[in-house]
Parts: sequence; structure tokens; C-alpha cells
Amino acid sequence: MTAGVGLPDAPRRPARFITLEGGEGAGKSTQARRLAERLHGLGIGTVSTREPGGSPGAEAVRHVLLSGAAERFGPDVEAILFAAARADHVDETIRPALERGDWVICDRFADSTRVYQAEIGTALIDALETVALDGLVPDLTLLLDLPAETGLERARARRGDDAVDRFEKDALALHVARREAFLALARRHPERIAVIDAGAEADAVAEAIWATVAARFGLASGGPAG
Ligand code: TMP
Repeated sequence: MTAGVGLPDAPRRPARFITLEGGEGAGKSTQARRLAERLHGLGIGTVSTREPGGSPGAEAVRHVLLSGAAERFGPDVEAILFAAARADHVDETIRPALERGDWVICDRFADSTRVYQAEIGTALIDALETVALDGLVPDLTLLLDLPAETGLERARARRGDDAVDRFEKDALALHVARREAFLALARRHPERIAVIDAGAEADAVAEAIWATVAARFGLASGGPAG
């Protein structure tokens, strides 16, 4: 028996907004898909999305950002473009889904800007967040944590002969600093951000994520592994 979504007398589960964050090659996309499948298995309507992107307008901006075409305009402009994409994504995809009662699983969100665009300073980041999010905060953020070297190796293996993107190409020291910045965010927001050891096998990571989500939202922790 599933959760009874759609049955007339079933209490409606509140929609939830879950984000996955982490460095390069942390396995966020795979784990986001597995989490969505598992929620579906409980009869929970789920929308899977990603950043930069997630709406037609934001996907167009994604290409500009990840190709490196915006890099020459400097970090402020890049951050403004991430925020513009995010505002459209929130308005066109995330809020409508939550208002319908669907759960939203998003591969990267505002924490990525705090970490990757850190050099622009918190005042500008705060201002952009205010405009782009208009008060929307994830109910849960899963931080997939692993050493930067391991993540970059995985990302390289996955990419094969494809060109390295705008941010993956940065120096190892910067990736190490980003890992630390994500962990610092988790320490600052322990009520929202759960740190998951992403260095383990994919099945073990999926189980750790499911245990966290199930406990946080009062879901049955058993059921078919995703
Ligand atoms: P991904 O598809 O591998 O997650 O790549 C997205 C890249 O964009 C990744 O290198 C992180 C970067 N990024 C930012 O720099 N700022 C942001 O706000 C977001 C969402 C992503």
C-alpha cells in the first residue's frame, strides 16, 4: 500500500523541496535520480530538475555559463547570470511543482553560488539570492561530500573525451577550497544541510540518502532499494 496520495480521505503529504549539492564528480545526478525513483515508489509525485537550468530560459543561460562564454565578463556578471537563471527556474518550474503538491529534487541550487561564486562577496550573493529565491528555501539539502581529487578523477572518467567545462577546469586548490566551503555551510545550517559520505559505493550512498530523507520527512524507511 502506498502513501495514499490521490485517495479522497488520505491526508495530503506536504510538498518538499530537496536539493543536492557538492563538488565535481560527487554523483549528485545519479543519486538525485535514485531518490526520485524511490519517492515515486511510495506514490509521491516528484519533479527532478537541475541548475544551472531546469526551465527553458534557464537552460539557455546554462549553455552560456558552462561553455565559459560569460567568463570574460568577470565573476559578478557570471553570478548575476546564475541568479537570472535561478529566478526563472524557481518561477517556471519549482514553485509551480510545489504548489501542485509535487516534491522537487534539484541537482544544485543556491548553495552552489555561495561556494563557486564566493569571490564576489556575501553582500552581492545575499542580494542576488533575495531576488532569485523570493523566500524559497530548500526543506533539506544533501551535501555529497568527497575529497576533491577523487571527485575530479570521477568527473574526468565520466566526461571521457568531452571538453572540460568552465568550473571543472579550475585548479585543484580551488576545488579543495570549495569542498571546505560546502562543509562550512553545512556547519552553519545543520538544520537544513545533511552531509553524506559520497566516497562510498553508489548503493551505500543511496541508502544513506534514503535514511536521511525518510527520517527527516517521516517516510517508511524500508521498501525497494532504488
Ligand atoms: P554540473 O552539471 O556538473 O553540476 O555543473 C554545473 C557547474 O556549474 C558546476 O561546475 C558548478 C557550477 N555552478 C556554479 O558555479 N554556480 C551555481 O550557482 C551553480 C548552480 C553551478
